[in-house]
Amino acid sequence: MSVHKNVKRVTTHTLHEMKVAGEKISMLTGYDFSMARIIDESGIDVILVGDSASNVMAGHETTLPITLDQMIYHASAVVRAVNRSLVVVDMPFGSYQGNSKEALSSAIRIMKESGAHAVKMEGGREISESITRILTAGIPVMGHLGLTPQSIYKFGTYVVRAKEEEEANRLIEDAKLLEEIGCFAIVLEKIPAELAVKVAKEVQIPIIGIGAGNGVDGQVLVVHDMLGINNEFNPRFLRKYNNLYDQMMQSFKEYINDVRSGDFPNDKEQY
Ligand code: KIV
Repeated sequence: MSVHKNVKRVTTHTLHEMKVAGEKISMLTGYDFSMARIIDESGIDVILVGDSASNVMAGHETTLPITLDQMIYHASAVVRAVNRSLVVVDMPFGSYQGNSKEALSSAIRIMKESGAHAVKMEGGREISESITRILTAGIPVMGHLGLTPQSIYKFGTYVVRAKEEEEANRLIEDAKLLEEIGCFAIVLEKIPAELAVKVAKEVQIPIIGIGAGNGVDGQVLVVHDMLGINNEFNPRFLRKYNNLYDQMMQSFKEYINDVRSGDFPNDKEQY
């Protein structure tokens, strides 16, 4: 990772200070060098090398197939691009659920081989031993509660989680536990906004929401979704800041026409 002078890096402590100061945290996913360079230069606080790479980069239906090696490949490319943002890497399905020793060696591989700054793990009390072991090694951990896509076959659907009191209470308890054992932040995915506000008030660590309303400490979106690259994904929580699907389609069509008509390359575009 190149270190640029005059760039104040975002750290886990910066995020904590932002929560205390009431400043909202911005987070986007990133999976490759070129996109991560633009995201970093835009001033985003956190880049998440999400296991959503399994969907948007590799075309899988779920996040389950992506491997630890593939996550490290994506994370390394992102780290090479970044000068300011905090880079957090999802631990992929199967790399930490077995036991805490396996979880620690997966986290160490991510940190050592990619140069990232932290890992993210889906789950609460059921993975607390693994989180603790990783934290003990000095690796910062971001939690992830609510809709946890690695458990999609247990849930059965991607609908809003924790609408019932029992699940909501369990989520609050899990958030408190993640704070107690030392996670530096928690992602809350697709839960009622009212519950997310409650969690953000009850813990001191930053709560980053996706489909969890505006009462939390920051927001995260999948970059391909917010750019409108995938025109088939339109959940209620998603705000599209562009329609790159249409713009890219238009550019590709113009290029095809120019090649076919012989218009490209012209005299100035050759040697
Ligand atoms: O993998 C991912 O992109 C995520 C975000 C949706 C939070 O975990």
